[in-house]
Parts: sequence; C-alpha cells; structure tokens
Amino acid sequence: METLEPIVTKEYRLFDKDSLFYKGDDGRKKLYLETYGCQMNVADSELVASILQGEGFSLTEEFQEADLILLNTCAIRENAEQKVRNRLKQFHGQKRAKPELMVGVLGCMAEHLKEKLVQQEKIVDIVVGPDAYRDLPSLVREAESGQKAINVLLSREETYAEISPVRLASNGVSAFVSITRGCDNMCSFCVVPYTRGRERSRDPESILAEVRDLVERGYREVTLLGQNVDKYKWTAEGKEVLVNFAQLLERVALVSPELRVRFSTSYPQDMTDEVLHTMARHHNICKYIHLPVQAGNNRVLKLMRRGYTREWYLDRIAAIRRIVPDCAISTDIMTGFCSETDVEHLDTLDLMRQVRFDYAYMFKYSERPITYAAKKLADDVPEHEKKRRLKEIIDLQNEHSAQSNREDLGKTFEVLIEGDSKRSSNQLSGRNSQNKMVVFNKVEGLRPGQYVHVKINRCTSATLIGELVP
Ligand code: 5AD
Ligand code: SF4
Repeated sequence: METLEPIVTKEYRLFDKDSLFYKGDDGRKKLYLETYGCQMNVADSELVASILQGEGFSLTEEFQEADLILLNTCAIRENAEQKVRNRLKQFHGQKRAKPELMVGVLGCMAEHLKEKLVQQEKIVDIVVGPDAYRDLPSLVREAESGQKAINVLLSREETYAEISPVRLASNGVSAFVSITRGCDNMCSFCVVPYTRGRERSRDPESILAEVRDLVERGYREVTLLGQNVDKYKWTAEGKEVLVNFAQLLERVALVSPELRVRFSTSYPQDMTDEVLHTMARHHNICKYIHLPVQAGNNRVLKLMRRGYTREWYLDRIAAIRRIVPDCAISTDIMTGFCSETDVEHLDTLDLMRQVRFDYAYMFKYSERPITYAAKKLADDVPEHEKKRRLKEIIDLQNEHSAQSNREDLGKTFEVLIEGDSKRSSNQLSGRNSQNKMVVFNKVEGLRPGQYVHVKINRCTSATLIGELVP
C-alpha cells in the first residue's frame, strides 16, 4: 500500500471511551463496527459510519446490543485474515440468541474472498468491497429481507470525494484524509492491487474543503493517505497534470500555519525532490517520511517487482538527509521472500546499518493467493529460517530505534498535545514533528490541540520524556 504505516499489524477498535456517539436506547438500529489493518481502513470505516448514520443507524461499542455488525478487514498477510475469521465465528454465534442480527465483512478480505464467505463458510450476510460502500444502505436492506447481499465491484473512479467522514478514531486533534485509492504498482507479493483496485486521485478541491472544515472544527493535524501518495495526480481532460503530490501538499500546508500535515505512504521510485523541497519550505509539514524498502538485495527487489534498486533507494535517503536534514525516516521490511538466501538477507541488515531507520515495521513473507509470487515463485524459505531472519532484523532495528531516541536527549521539540499519557493522568503526551511520542508532566490549563515546547531529558525505547520549556 505501502503500509499505511503504524497500525498494519494491530487490531484497531474504533470506539474508545472518548468517542462521541449515543450510548442509550434511542430507538435507532445499532451498528457495531470494528476495523483491522491500515490507516486507510480506519478512514474507510469513517465513511461507512457516515453513510449508515444517514440511514438511521446509531453506533454502539457493545457488539451484544448491535443489530448490524460490520468488520472492515485486511488481507495483507494470512494471519490478518485468520484473526478476522475467528472474530466472525464469534459474531456468527451471537445469531443463535438474536436471529435478526446481521453480520457483514467490508474491505480487503471481502474483495479477496468474495462469495466464499457467504456461500462456503456461511458466516456472513453481507460482503462489501472497498469501492462499494455507497451501496451499503441497499445491501443492508437486502440482507434484512433475508437475501445474501454482495457487492465487490471495483471502480476506476470512486474516491468518495464528497462524503463527509464521521471521525471515529480521532482524539479531536488528528484526522485522516484520503487522497488516493488503489494501487497500480503490482509488487509481486502484494494482494492490495487486487483488493483495492486501480489507482485514482481525489479532486484537490474536495480534499482542501475537508481539511478547512477540520481546521474550523479545531483539528490540528491531518494525515494525507494513499497506498502511494507520490503518485497523486489531478489531471485535466487532456491528461495534463494540474496538481501533483508536492503541489497538493503545499496547498494543504497553506490552509493554516496552525495545522500540521503528515502523509503516508511514500514510494521509493516515485518520491521526488520536489516533495522534499516542499517539506523543507513549510514548518507545518512534519519532518517524517515512511519509505518502505522491503529488502536490501537487488535480486530480491527485482523478484519483488519493486521497480528500484538498493542504490536508488540509498540515493533517495541521501536526498532526504540533504534537503530535509531533521527528517525522521521509517520503513517496512519483509524477510524470507521466495528464494531469498542467507547472504541476500545480510544485504538487508547491511542496508539497515547504512540508513539507520528511526523506526521500522517488520514482517515475514506470507504468500497471498492470486499474486504473481503465489502463481510463479516458490515460497521456499523454511518457516524457522524466516523467523530467525526476522529476529535478526528486529534486534538490529531495536538498537537503531533506541540510539535514535538517545540522540534526542537534550533537544527541545515542538509537541502537539494529543491527550493524557497512557501511563498516567498526571502526564500529557503528544508527538513531535518527527512522529516520536513525547511525554511530560501536566500543567494546569493545557489542552489537547495546543502546541508546547518540551526539552527531552530521558527516553525509553518507544517514548521521549521531557519537561515543558517556556
Ligand atoms: N507478506 C508479508 N508482508 C507483506 N506486506 C505486503 N504484502 C505482504 C506479504 N504478502 C508488507 C510489506 C508492505 C506492508 C504493508 O506489508 O512490507 O509494505
Ligand atoms: Fe504497496 Fe506494492 Fe502493495 Fe502497492 S503493490 S500496496 S506499492 S506493496
């Protein structure tokens, strides 16, 4: 996708104690919605909630009281699918007590497995792919009348441009704004082009309108989302590019100097110097890039059909360091891809040592049906070997992440307050521009959404700890 970075592997339940939604019995039908996978799925769930609210549903955080349970799902690795299957079986069991309950699957797994979920496994009533959410109201009605309801058509145009998302996952400070959908890269291991369809960009005016609306409602940070944001382009009829990603980024940054702008995910082959210069010019574009490398060996990169070499990737890293010197860099690494040798694995470790990523998301290769790799390449690296390589990669990254945090000791950062720290209600937390979590003691009068300056005097492997400076 590249991954919509931080929450790829994590289960993401949208409703937390702070969400604003009606809890009591207001006579409306109740929707329980659970989201797995990437940030794009979180953004999509916000569209789904908006569409179904328009149909008279209210949201609940208790699946036991729901009339409709929807799981927005991920298909990127096999274990993501397995997790959802188990959850679906649990929800399906609820139907014994409440036969009118409807259970639906949305998103990538719906697209990937299509009718199979309804016809063979018989665990769901509704199956809706990522481009068919507008059709949800009629699909729900079909399901209510006892039919199985499926729409997994992919679209070349759908961007849900004018639908205004209900901010479910939000702390009232940060929000996701999707700018492109789909992916045309066709990396050989990846199921995303099949589940999310062709790449398309959203009208810049609708993006800017959404961002302005967020600012007016007090939001202070937006993350522009796309599987490959660098491919964003808004074209005129004659195919002339009117707005590219760098230009969009600039226009979003100009909406308000009080608004931080982030984006995810960048793609090594497509990330231009123009984007980097735009970041350098605007204080409010966060100095953080997620640039998935996957592997450090050229033969493996070629088999992965990534379209760049190790040298190209390192050149992009050099460009970031040169043009945006204070930029943090994170990556995705996938180990044990088809026929990867131990020597080639060492090239990945070597590249990590050269770059010294501030953070990384690390995975074992998991074969996905219908991909080029599944059809043409043997998944022949033994499981124990994948595990061993992954452990070496994680151990090395942990050293680099800890070192990166130690290098911040003594520095002062501008931090956007997001809320209480996880550990203590006497502390506040927020992130710096480089996307690192910063924790500091609470002071009367400070609220989420405010900017403060914090001097770092301690760190753990995951957090910087500091004190407020005037
Ligand atoms: N197996 C393991 N990891 C994968 N990713 C994508 N496809 C697979 C797969 N088949 C990882 C890549 C990608 C991130 C979103 O997930 O590292 O960047
Ligand atoms: Fe990312 Fe490649 Fe998958 Fe597209 S095909 S989502 S670029 S890993």
